[in-house]
Amino acid sequence: MNREPGQPYEHIRVVVPATAANLGPGFDSLGLALALFNTVQVAAVGPDSCPDAVHTVEGEGAPTLPRGPDNLVRRSMAAVAARAGVELPAVAVRQVNAIPLARGLGSSSAAIVGGCVAANEVLGRPLSQDDLLAIAVEIEGHPDNVAPALLGGLTVCYAAGEGARCLRLEPLDPPRAVVAVPDYEVETEKARQALPPSVPRRDAVLNVGRAAALVGAFATGRYDLLRAAMDDRLHQPYRAHLVPGMDEAIAAALDAGALGACLSGSGPTVLAFAAAQEDAIAEAMKQALAALGVTAATRVLDVCLQGATVTYL
Ligand code: HSE
Repeated sequence: MNREPGQPYEHIRVVVPATAANLGPGFDSLGLALALFNTVQVAAVGPDSCPDAVHTVEGEGAPTLPRGPDNLVRRSMAAVAARAGVELPAVAVRQVNAIPLARGLGSSSAAIVGGCVAANEVLGRPLSQDDLLAIAVEIEGHPDNVAPALLGGLTVCYAAGEGARCLRLEPLDPPRAVVAVPDYEVETEKARQALPPSVPRRDAVLNVGRAAALVGAFATGRYDLLRAAMDDRLHQPYRAHLVPGMDEAIAAALDAGALGACLSGSGPTVLAFAAAQEDAIAEAMKQALAALGVTAATRVLDVCLQGATVTYL
Protein backbone atom coordinates (compact mmCIF):
# COMPACT_ATOMS: atom_id res chain seq x y z
CA MET A 1 0.00 0.00 0.00
CA ASN A 2 1.54 3.32 -0.95
CA ARG A 3 -1.21 5.73 0.05
CA GLU A 4 -3.02 6.64 3.19
CA PRO A 5 -6.66 5.57 3.43
CA GLY A 6 -9.16 8.06 2.07
CA GLN A 7 -6.66 9.81 -0.21
CA PRO A 8 -7.84 10.76 -3.69
CA TYR A 9 -6.85 8.34 -6.44
CA GLU A 10 -7.09 7.89 -10.17
CA HIS A 11 -6.66 4.14 -10.26
CA ILE A 12 -6.36 1.53 -7.55
CA ARG A 13 -4.75 -1.70 -8.67
CA VAL A 14 -5.08 -4.90 -6.66
CA VAL A 15 -2.90 -7.84 -7.69
CA VAL A 16 -4.02 -11.21 -6.33
CA PRO A 17 -2.14 -14.54 -6.52
CA ALA A 18 -3.44 -17.88 -7.69
CA THR A 19 -3.88 -20.51 -5.00
CA ALA A 20 -3.70 -24.26 -4.56
CA ALA A 21 -6.18 -25.44 -1.93
CA ASN A 22 -6.25 -28.74 0.00
CA LEU A 23 -2.62 -29.62 -0.93
CA GLY A 24 -3.64 -33.26 -0.63
CA PRO A 25 -4.75 -33.99 2.94
CA GLY A 26 -5.87 -30.50 4.01
CA PHE A 27 -9.37 -30.54 2.57
CA ASP A 28 -11.05 -27.13 3.08
CA SER A 29 -8.18 -26.18 5.43
CA LEU A 30 -4.80 -25.72 3.73
CA GLY A 31 -3.95 -23.35 0.91
CA LEU A 32 -0.84 -21.99 -0.75
CA ALA A 33 -0.39 -18.83 -2.82
CA LEU A 34 1.31 -19.24 -6.20
CA ALA A 35 3.00 -16.65 -8.39
CA LEU A 36 0.38 -16.33 -11.13
CA PHE A 37 -1.74 -13.23 -10.85
CA ASN A 38 -5.08 -11.64 -11.59
CA THR A 39 -5.40 -7.88 -11.46
CA VAL A 40 -8.46 -5.86 -10.48
CA GLN A 41 -8.13 -2.18 -11.26
CA VAL A 42 -10.75 0.36 -10.30
CA ALA A 43 -11.06 3.97 -11.34
CA ALA A 44 -13.40 6.69 -10.16
CA VAL A 45 -16.04 7.63 -12.73
CA GLY A 46 -18.43 10.54 -12.79
CA PRO A 47 -21.74 10.24 -10.97
CA ASP A 48 -23.60 10.16 -14.31
CA SER A 49 -21.64 7.22 -15.73
CA CYS A 50 -23.34 3.85 -15.71
CA PRO A 51 -20.86 1.69 -13.77
CA ASP A 52 -22.13 -1.52 -15.36
CA ALA A 53 -21.12 -0.22 -18.75
CA VAL A 54 -17.63 0.46 -17.47
CA HIS A 55 -16.35 -3.01 -16.84
CA THR A 56 -13.75 -4.77 -18.92
CA VAL A 57 -12.30 -8.26 -18.64
CA GLU A 58 -9.05 -9.21 -20.37
CA GLY A 59 -7.30 -12.57 -20.48
CA GLU A 60 -8.81 -15.69 -18.94
CA GLY A 61 -12.60 -15.66 -18.98
CA ALA A 62 -12.83 -12.57 -21.17
CA PRO A 63 -15.40 -14.07 -23.54
CA THR A 64 -17.64 -15.55 -20.84
CA LEU A 65 -17.46 -13.70 -17.53
CA PRO A 66 -20.45 -11.46 -16.80
CA ARG A 67 -19.98 -7.72 -16.50
CA GLY A 68 -22.22 -5.74 -14.18
CA PRO A 69 -23.81 -6.71 -10.85
CA ASP A 70 -23.52 -10.49 -11.37
CA ASN A 71 -19.77 -10.26 -11.80
CA LEU A 72 -17.94 -11.76 -8.81
CA VAL A 73 -15.66 -8.74 -8.42
CA ARG A 74 -18.66 -6.39 -8.38
CA ARG A 75 -20.59 -8.65 -5.99
CA SER A 76 -17.63 -8.74 -3.63
CA MET A 77 -17.26 -4.97 -3.79
CA ALA A 78 -20.95 -4.58 -2.97
CA ALA A 79 -20.60 -6.98 -0.02
CA VAL A 80 -17.78 -4.89 1.46
CA ALA A 81 -19.78 -1.68 1.10
CA ALA A 82 -22.81 -3.34 2.70
CA ARG A 83 -20.71 -4.61 5.65
CA ALA A 84 -19.19 -1.14 6.06
CA GLY A 85 -22.67 0.36 5.93
CA VAL A 86 -21.80 2.84 3.22
CA GLU A 87 -22.58 3.34 -0.43
CA LEU A 88 -19.90 2.43 -2.94
CA PRO A 89 -19.17 5.33 -5.28
CA ALA A 90 -19.40 4.69 -9.02
CA VAL A 91 -16.23 3.01 -10.24
CA ALA A 92 -15.00 1.51 -13.48
CA VAL A 93 -13.55 -2.00 -13.11
CA ARG A 94 -10.85 -3.53 -15.28
CA GLN A 95 -9.98 -7.20 -14.72
CA VAL A 96 -6.83 -8.66 -16.23
CA ASN A 97 -6.87 -12.41 -15.60
CA ALA A 98 -3.96 -14.82 -15.89
CA ILE A 99 -5.45 -17.54 -13.67
CA PRO A 100 -7.39 -20.08 -15.75
CA LEU A 101 -11.05 -20.49 -14.81
CA ALA A 102 -12.48 -23.55 -13.04
CA ARG A 103 -9.16 -25.42 -13.04
CA GLY A 104 -8.48 -25.57 -9.28
CA LEU A 105 -6.12 -22.59 -9.15
CA GLY A 106 -8.34 -20.18 -7.26
CA SER A 107 -9.68 -17.94 -10.03
CA SER A 108 -12.95 -17.23 -8.22
CA SER A 109 -11.13 -16.51 -4.97
CA ALA A 110 -8.86 -14.08 -6.80
CA ALA A 111 -11.94 -12.25 -8.11
CA ILE A 112 -13.54 -12.19 -4.66
CA VAL A 113 -10.41 -11.05 -2.84
CA GLY A 114 -9.62 -8.53 -5.59
CA GLY A 115 -13.12 -7.05 -5.31
CA CYS A 116 -13.09 -7.00 -1.49
CA VAL A 117 -9.69 -5.34 -1.23
CA ALA A 118 -10.44 -2.84 -4.02
CA ALA A 119 -13.74 -1.79 -2.43
CA ASN A 120 -12.11 -1.42 0.97
CA GLU A 121 -9.52 0.92 -0.55
CA VAL A 122 -12.12 2.94 -2.47
CA LEU A 123 -14.02 3.42 0.78
CA GLY A 124 -10.95 4.53 2.73
CA ARG A 125 -10.20 1.17 4.36
CA PRO A 126 -13.11 0.92 6.83
CA LEU A 127 -12.72 -2.85 7.29
CA SER A 128 -9.88 -4.87 8.77
CA GLN A 129 -8.13 -7.74 7.02
CA ASP A 130 -10.06 -10.15 9.27
CA ASP A 131 -13.33 -8.54 8.14
CA LEU A 132 -12.32 -8.91 4.49
CA LEU A 133 -11.39 -12.54 5.05
CA ALA A 134 -14.75 -13.24 6.69
CA ILE A 135 -16.65 -11.63 3.80
CA ALA A 136 -14.57 -13.48 1.22
CA VAL A 137 -15.13 -16.82 2.99
CA GLU A 138 -18.85 -16.14 3.09
CA ILE A 139 -18.98 -15.46 -0.64
CA GLU A 140 -16.71 -18.38 -1.62
CA GLY A 141 -18.25 -20.86 0.81
CA HIS A 142 -14.96 -22.31 2.05
CA PRO A 143 -11.82 -20.58 3.30
CA ASP A 144 -8.87 -22.44 1.81
CA ASN A 145 -8.50 -20.47 -1.43
CA VAL A 146 -9.47 -16.99 -0.27
CA ALA A 147 -7.08 -17.06 2.72
CA PRO A 148 -3.83 -17.50 0.74
CA ALA A 149 -5.14 -15.16 -1.98
CA LEU A 150 -5.54 -12.44 0.65
CA LEU A 151 -2.54 -13.24 2.87
CA GLY A 152 0.02 -15.07 0.69
CA GLY A 153 2.23 -17.95 1.81
CA LEU A 154 0.76 -21.09 3.36
CA THR A 155 -2.50 -20.68 5.20
CA VAL A 156 -4.11 -23.00 7.71
CA CYS A 157 -7.82 -22.34 8.17
CA TYR A 158 -9.72 -23.82 11.05
CA ALA A 159 -13.20 -23.56 12.49
CA ALA A 160 -13.66 -21.40 15.56
CA GLY A 161 -17.19 -20.93 16.79
CA GLU A 162 -19.38 -19.83 13.91
CA GLY A 163 -16.58 -18.72 11.64
CA ALA A 164 -13.21 -19.60 10.20
CA ARG A 165 -9.87 -18.45 11.59
CA CYS A 166 -6.67 -18.47 9.69
CA LEU A 167 -3.01 -18.90 10.51
CA ARG A 168 -0.53 -17.70 7.90
CA LEU A 169 2.85 -19.40 7.74
CA GLU A 170 5.89 -18.35 5.79
CA PRO A 171 7.18 -21.52 4.10
CA LEU A 172 10.88 -22.06 4.70
CA ASP A 173 12.79 -22.07 1.41
CA PRO A 174 9.77 -23.49 -0.43
CA PRO A 175 10.04 -25.81 -3.42
CA ARG A 176 8.48 -24.79 -6.73
CA ALA A 177 5.08 -25.93 -7.89
CA VAL A 178 4.81 -27.72 -11.22
CA VAL A 179 1.21 -27.61 -12.40
CA ALA A 180 -0.44 -29.55 -15.20
CA VAL A 181 -3.62 -27.74 -16.20
CA PRO A 182 -5.98 -29.90 -18.28
CA ASP A 183 -7.95 -28.24 -21.05
CA TYR A 184 -11.31 -28.91 -19.42
CA GLU A 185 -13.10 -27.38 -16.45
CA VAL A 186 -14.32 -28.92 -13.19
CA GLU A 187 -16.98 -26.93 -11.37
CA THR A 188 -16.20 -26.90 -7.65
CA GLU A 189 -19.87 -27.35 -6.79
CA LYS A 190 -20.03 -30.57 -8.80
CA ALA A 191 -16.75 -31.76 -7.26
CA ARG A 192 -18.16 -31.14 -3.78
CA GLN A 193 -21.30 -33.10 -4.61
CA ALA A 194 -19.08 -36.10 -5.40
CA LEU A 195 -17.94 -36.29 -1.77
CA PRO A 196 -19.57 -38.74 0.65
CA PRO A 197 -21.33 -37.40 3.76
CA SER A 198 -19.00 -39.36 6.05
CA VAL A 199 -15.67 -41.18 5.79
CA PRO A 200 -14.16 -44.14 7.63
CA ARG A 201 -12.36 -43.16 10.82
CA ARG A 202 -9.09 -44.70 9.66
CA ASP A 203 -9.14 -42.38 6.61
CA ALA A 204 -9.82 -39.34 8.80
CA VAL A 205 -6.96 -40.35 11.10
CA LEU A 206 -4.57 -40.79 8.16
CA ASN A 207 -5.46 -37.31 6.89
CA VAL A 208 -5.06 -35.66 10.30
CA GLY A 209 -1.51 -36.97 10.58
CA ARG A 210 -0.59 -36.16 7.01
CA ALA A 211 -2.01 -32.63 7.12
CA ALA A 212 -0.07 -31.94 10.30
CA ALA A 213 3.11 -33.39 8.74
CA LEU A 214 2.60 -31.26 5.64
CA VAL A 215 2.35 -28.06 7.65
CA GLY A 216 5.45 -29.13 9.60
CA ALA A 217 7.30 -29.76 6.34
CA PHE A 218 6.62 -26.23 5.08
CA ALA A 219 7.39 -24.64 8.42
CA THR A 220 10.72 -26.42 8.86
CA GLY A 221 11.86 -27.02 5.28
CA ARG A 222 11.58 -30.81 5.65
CA TYR A 223 10.26 -31.26 2.11
CA ASP A 224 11.38 -34.88 2.09
CA LEU A 225 8.18 -35.48 4.10
CA LEU A 226 5.91 -34.33 1.28
CA ARG A 227 5.70 -37.61 -0.61
CA ALA A 228 3.84 -39.31 2.22
CA ALA A 229 2.33 -36.15 3.68
CA MET A 230 0.50 -35.18 0.48
CA ASP A 231 -1.45 -38.41 0.21
CA ASP A 232 -5.17 -38.00 0.72
CA ARG A 233 -8.20 -40.13 1.60
CA LEU A 234 -10.87 -37.45 2.08
CA HIS A 235 -11.51 -36.04 -1.36
CA GLN A 236 -9.15 -37.14 -4.14
CA PRO A 237 -10.38 -40.75 -4.36
CA TYR A 238 -13.98 -39.56 -4.61
CA ARG A 239 -13.17 -37.04 -7.32
CA ALA A 240 -10.97 -39.24 -9.49
CA HIS A 241 -13.81 -39.99 -11.91
CA LEU A 242 -14.21 -36.24 -12.54
CA VAL A 243 -10.50 -35.83 -13.23
CA PRO A 244 -9.39 -38.42 -15.75
CA GLY A 245 -5.65 -38.95 -15.49
CA MET A 246 -5.31 -37.53 -11.95
CA ASP A 247 -3.81 -40.67 -10.43
CA GLU A 248 -1.59 -41.26 -13.45
CA ALA A 249 -0.28 -37.68 -13.48
CA ILE A 250 0.48 -37.83 -9.74
CA ALA A 251 2.32 -41.14 -10.18
CA ALA A 252 4.25 -39.80 -13.19
CA ALA A 253 5.32 -36.70 -11.25
CA LEU A 254 6.58 -38.81 -8.35
CA ASP A 255 8.41 -41.18 -10.72
CA ALA A 256 10.07 -38.18 -12.35
CA GLY A 257 11.41 -36.92 -9.01
CA ALA A 258 8.67 -34.73 -7.54
CA LEU A 259 8.76 -34.28 -3.77
CA GLY A 260 5.02 -34.85 -3.56
CA ALA A 261 1.93 -34.36 -5.73
CA CYS A 262 -1.82 -33.85 -5.39
CA LEU A 263 -4.95 -32.47 -6.96
CA SER A 264 -4.97 -28.67 -6.76
CA GLY A 265 -8.20 -27.57 -5.10
CA SER A 266 -11.05 -29.52 -6.62
CA GLY A 267 -9.09 -29.95 -9.86
CA PRO A 268 -8.58 -30.67 -12.60
CA THR A 269 -5.08 -29.18 -12.18
CA VAL A 270 -2.52 -31.61 -10.77
CA LEU A 271 0.25 -30.00 -8.72
CA ALA A 272 3.66 -31.43 -7.91
CA PHE A 273 6.33 -29.84 -5.71
CA ALA A 274 9.87 -29.96 -7.02
CA ALA A 275 13.29 -28.94 -5.81
CA ALA A 276 14.89 -29.88 -9.16
CA GLN A 277 13.99 -31.43 -12.53
CA GLU A 278 10.93 -29.20 -12.88
CA ASP A 279 10.80 -29.45 -16.68
CA ALA A 280 11.15 -33.24 -16.64
CA ILE A 281 8.37 -33.50 -14.04
CA ALA A 282 6.14 -31.22 -16.11
CA GLU A 283 6.77 -33.30 -19.22
CA ALA A 284 6.09 -36.55 -17.36
CA MET A 285 2.74 -35.22 -16.12
CA LYS A 286 1.82 -33.94 -19.55
CA GLN A 287 2.67 -37.28 -21.18
CA ALA A 288 0.74 -39.27 -18.55
CA LEU A 289 -2.35 -37.16 -19.25
CA ALA A 290 -1.82 -37.27 -23.02
CA ALA A 291 -1.70 -41.08 -22.88
CA LEU A 292 -5.30 -40.90 -21.65
CA GLY A 293 -6.33 -38.38 -24.28
CA VAL A 294 -6.16 -35.35 -21.97
CA THR A 295 -4.40 -32.27 -23.28
CA ALA A 296 -2.75 -30.20 -20.54
CA ALA A 297 -0.64 -27.07 -20.34
CA THR A 298 2.16 -27.12 -17.80
CA ARG A 299 3.73 -24.29 -15.81
CA VAL A 300 6.36 -23.99 -13.13
CA LEU A 301 5.28 -21.51 -10.47
CA ASP A 302 7.03 -20.08 -7.44
CA VAL A 303 5.29 -20.07 -4.10
CA CYS A 304 4.07 -16.50 -3.53
CA LEU A 305 4.74 -15.07 -0.10
CA GLN A 306 2.70 -11.94 -0.74
CA GLY A 307 -1.05 -11.91 -0.71
CA ALA A 308 -3.22 -9.29 -2.42
CA THR A 309 -1.20 -6.12 -2.96
CA VAL A 310 -2.55 -2.62 -3.54
CA THR A 311 -0.99 0.08 -5.68
CA TYR A 312 -2.35 3.60 -6.16
CA LEU A 313 -1.74 4.95 -9.65
N1 HSE B 1 -11.51 -27.10 -0.59
C1 HSE B 1 -12.26 -26.83 -1.80
C2 HSE B 1 -12.68 -28.15 -2.39
C3 HSE B 1 -11.38 -26.07 -2.75
O1 HSE B 1 -11.85 -29.03 -2.50
O2 HSE B 1 -13.85 -28.29 -2.73
C4 HSE B 1 -12.06 -25.75 -4.04
O3 HSE B 1 -11.12 -25.21 -4.92
